[in-house]
Formats: sequence, C-alpha cells, structure tokens
Amino acid sequence: MAVWIMTVFLGSAFITSASEAFWVSDLDLGKMEQSWGQPGVNKSVVGAPLSIGGKKFEHGVGTHAISVLRIRLEGHGDRFTAQVGLDDDIGQCPASLIFKVEGDSKILFNSGVMKTGEAAQPVAVDLSGVKVLSLLVEATGNDISCNHADWADAKITMREGKPVTTMYPSEPPVVLTPKPPRTPRINGAEIIGVRPGSPFLFTIPATGERPITFAVSGLPAGLTVDPQTGRITGVLTNQGSYTVTFLAKNELGTNRRSFKIVCGNTLSLTPPMGWNSWNCFGCDVSDAKVRAAADAMVSSGLINHGWTYINIDDCWEGGRDANGNIIPNSKFPDMKALTDYVHAKGLKIGIYSSPGPKTCGGNEGSYQHEEQDARQFARWGFDYLKYDWCSYGNIAPNPTLEQMKQPYQVMHAALERQPRDIVYSLCQYGMGDVWKWGASVEGNCWRTGIDIVDTWTSVSGIGFDQVGREQYAGPGHWNDPDMLVVGQVGWGSNIRPTRLTVNEQFTHISLWALLDAPLFIGCDMTKLDDFTLGLLSNDEVLAVNQDSLGRQAARVSVDGVLEVWAKDMADGSKVAGLFNRGENDATVTLNWYDLGLTGKQNVRDLWRQKNLGIFNGQFQAKVGRHGVVLVQLTPAE
Ligand code: GLA
Repeated sequence: MAVWIMTVFLGSAFITSASEAFWVSDLDLGKMEQSWGQPGVNKSVVGAPLSIGGKKFEHGVGTHAISVLRIRLEGHGDRFTAQVGLDDDIGQCPASLIFKVEGDSKILFNSGVMKTGEAAQPVAVDLSGVKVLSLLVEATGNDISCNHADWADAKITMREGKPVTTMYPSEPPVVLTPKPPRTPRINGAEIIGVRPGSPFLFTIPATGERPITFAVSGLPAGLTVDPQTGRITGVLTNQGSYTVTFLAKNELGTNRRSFKIVCGNTLSLTPPMGWNSWNCFGCDVSDAKVRAAADAMVSSGLINHGWTYINIDDCWEGGRDANGNIIPNSKFPDMKALTDYVHAKGLKIGIYSSPGPKTCGGNEGSYQHEEQDARQFARWGFDYLKYDWCSYGNIAPNPTLEQMKQPYQVMHAALERQPRDIVYSLCQYGMGDVWKWGASVEGNCWRTGIDIVDTWTSVSGIGFDQVGREQYAGPGHWNDPDMLVVGQVGWGSNIRPTRLTVNEQFTHISLWALLDAPLFIGCDMTKLDDFTLGLLSNDEVLAVNQDSLGRQAARVSVDGVLEVWAKDMADGSKVAGLFNRGENDATVTLNWYDLGLTGKQNVRDLWRQKNLGIFNGQFQAKVGRHGVVLVQLTPAE
C-alpha cells in the first residue's frame, strides 16, 4: 500500500487530498472465478514467478482464462494500472487470450487477441464514477490447456475507501416459460415449402392434453392427414400455394390456425429446427443414440413445439463398397431402417458429408462420388444434408471464390435430381463471406463461422458477431451461427452440463431466435432437465425464429456492453432483445426511434409470456450479467 499526497491550488485555498494505492494481489482472490486452478498471488497460475514476454514482475495475479475478478469501488476509484499478457510458463504452447477491463457497463480496456510469448501490454484506465470494476480474460483458441494469463503490476488507486472483491450472485435455473394450456394450441411455423413429386411429411405441432384429434380443411389433392397423430403425408404434383386451416380438438376445447403449403422449388421457408448429434456425442454417435434422440423428441413433447429434424453429424461413415457406394460403419447397421424409424415418429432425419475426400473427423467424404452419394442419401430416406468443407482444402488450397462455390454447386445439382426434398446445409465456417453467395449455390443455410462451444466467449463471440448479415438471410436461405449448446453436451463420451450460466443460456436462445438461425439442439436428448426443456419449448420465443416474414434481426443500438437487436415480424409487430454483455446488472434502454416506431406500444415479455404494459417512446429493463430481456412491441392504438 502506498499513499500519494495530491496538492491542488483552488482560488486562494490549498486543498490536500490523499489517494491510496492497492495491489490487486493483496485483495481477497477467493472471489476470482477462473476455468482452472487457483489465482496465483504474485505468481502465475501454476506458481511460477510472473513473467510476460521475457520480463519478470514482482507483483500481480496469475490466472487461467476464462476468468473474471469483480471489484467493488463504489465510485471512489481513481485509476487502474497493470501490465497484461500470457505467462511465459506455458513455453511454446499456442494460446490466444483477450484481456478486458470493464467499469460497470463500459468497456475501459480491450487488449485484442494476445498470443504466447508477446510482450506485456500496459493498461491505464480512469475509474471515476465506477461502482464495479471487472477484470476479464477471455480465451479465443481451441487449446484450453495453457491459458495462463497475468495481471502483472495490477494496482488500483482509490480516492477514499478500499476496493473489495465480490462475486456475481448465483443464478438459479428458474423456468420462465409458462406451462402450455390444457386446451389444444397449434404451435410452430405457419408455412412450409415442398417440391412437386417429393414425399410430404409434416406433423402438426400442438400442445394440450391428449388425446387430440386433428383435421385440416382445404388440403390440396394428394395430401391426407392422420386425425390421431396430426401427420400430413402424400405427394403434391402441381406447383402452387395452398392456404389450409389446421384444427386440433380435445375434451377441453378446439384450436384453429391458418397454414400455407407452398409447392415450388424452395425448402426451409422458415429456419430448420431439430437436433444434431455433434455437440453431445461427437464421434461417439450410433444408431441407438439417434433412435433415442428421436424417441426423446416425442416423449419430451418437443415435437409439439415444431422441432422436426434428427440429424446425424460426422462419424457414421464406413467406407465404400466395390461399386463405390458409401456404406455406414458398424454403429449404423441399417440406415434405411433408421430413417423409417424416425419418419414413423412424424420426424425427419438428416445426414452429414464433406465435398472433400475426407470429413473433418477423417471419415469417407463425397469427393468424386457426389451423384452416387446424393442418390444413396435419398434412397436411404434422408431429408437434410450438412456438407462440411474440411479436406476440400487439400483439393483447393487458397481457393478463389469460384473454387469455394464449385463443390457446393456440384452437390446441389446432385441433390436436385433426387425424388426427395433434402435441405442443404453448407458448412465452411464463413470462408469468402459465404453469406453473400450461399443462396446463389442454393444453400438453405450456411455456417457463418467457427465451431461453437459451451462458453460465454464462444456463444457471445459468434452470436453478436452476426452484425450486418441480416441482409443476406430470408425464407429458404439462412445464416447459421452453429448449433445450440444448452443442456448436457460434451462432443464425445463425457457428457456434462453446459458451462453457460442461466442468463447466458437465455441470451443464447433469444439471440439465435432473433437471428433466424437454424435451431439445432446439441444436447443429449435423453437427459433433458426442466430448465433446458423450458428454454426449448417457449412457443412465443420460437415463433420469433419461425416467423414467416423471415427477417433476421439487426443490431439497432450499442452502448458499451449493452446492445439491442430487433426484427420485424409478419404481423407488423417488432421483437427486440435487450442484451447486457457486461459483468454487472445494467439498465438497457430500447428507444422507439431505433426501431422506426412512434407512439404508444404494448410491450410483452416473451419468455414470461406476459404483457408489461403500454409504453411511450422507450422501454427500459434491468438486465443481469450476460442476460437478456426479450420483448415484442405492438401498437397500443
Ligand atoms: C466441423 C464442423 C462441426 C462438425 C465437425 C464434424 O468441425 O464445423 O460442426 O460437423 O466438423 O467432424
């Protein structure tokens, strides 16, 4: 601790004020949250002397990203100074970290990505007025074994009082989604696209006490509905748009809803919704696990909210037979039997391949077998293909734009010739700004970036990075920020609960809904808990994603770590997400002006499905750390 005397001449009087400096390493670091180990006091996280870029430091805190230290200053702080960087104790291990300093909801310092061996960056920020100071280290790399981060020489100068470390209150997993009524209610998309001649399958998603009987009026010739299951099947031969009315009835009541069937060339008129095996099972996927996911989609009731696809990701492939036909590995003994099983539940099923010779998991890809594979996928009965670049990088290193498009055009042409509708999902991690041309190669969706993992850095980094891409999405062609990481995930045999906090999970689902993202549940469907089920079964939130207008949300305002994203809905209303990316609770303001609105608006909280009242000009909400308030605005007059 050191005391500086500051003497200021003011008019004819001399005022003397003392400011006191505190080493951060002297504070109670038991409140520091970090993804591995314990904070090092004047040492690195593994107890080595603090050292950044070859320079040693006597004072400081060594931590392991992802980490956050929250310090109460109550507005009495003066300055924070430090030298930040990766500790030399990691040797050559490749790590990339971002150091951030936040004062309440303002970003005071951002180091940008720092890598192994780089010299320390100096930090010097003014703390005037700051109530809570947050020191954050985020990890951007995939190797999480050496994220050793140092806040060297970290010192807080106070005008009065002492800095006190504090933790964000724990967030109980409260289910906000109200239980659906016992009376029938038809949910999900209000439109579907199908090609002439393709088998049609659509299950009317409806909540309410069973038994429910279904009927459809105005159904075009070629289609029939099963009154017990609400499943519509058949084949349409003529192009055209058919408006029908669904009816669902039980002992307690009846519900009707208008629905449009568009027979033409465009599939996925709303973002596809379903489950994918990758984020939970990785290469540990099997026929039995896929069947179990389909079973759970029905038994959990999620099918009644519009969830449709059961998609197998990588690691189903065996090799090729003597005729070059792709064959599954021993974990998938009978693909046709598997697709029949899933279809018999009223669900659809997807598969995965690569335009390269090998997939990302090193399995057989479709290179030079595109036509044959498309035919096989259709024969087996698949309804969705995720086509993942991976080893195509060996065929076309440093590809031109044309070379990036080419393999996707080849597979599309092959899919188009099949007598089934196969939704086409491009996966090449955003290369060549794929959002600008994904639709031109007939992709129904395209991944816009790297693989998601269940951390705040990953989810917020990917989600909030979608700024400006809204102009490229629309019915039949969607930006895909990757699959969901709520529930029990793990990419292999070690399934564990998501590392996202409660608020972060609400942000994840709300943002993906606003972004019109394909929604693929990435968790073990057999281990759904009530909280996760609540996240995935809120019909008002899902309706934001499935809205027929297909207008992806844009970011309409940014104020430090506070952001508002909003989208137009088909009924003329607007939906806005008030997000707090910061470390502390904050008030987020939604201004009508930013949405092009005027006058009085009804504001409805979509997670709670509750009207909040009539507001004029603006709406403000208190939003927790990394949290969201999702509202819908409809004119009050
Ligand atoms: C890539 C994709 C993932 C997953 C794996 C499978 O990493 O981005 O979504 O499909 O390949 O190997």
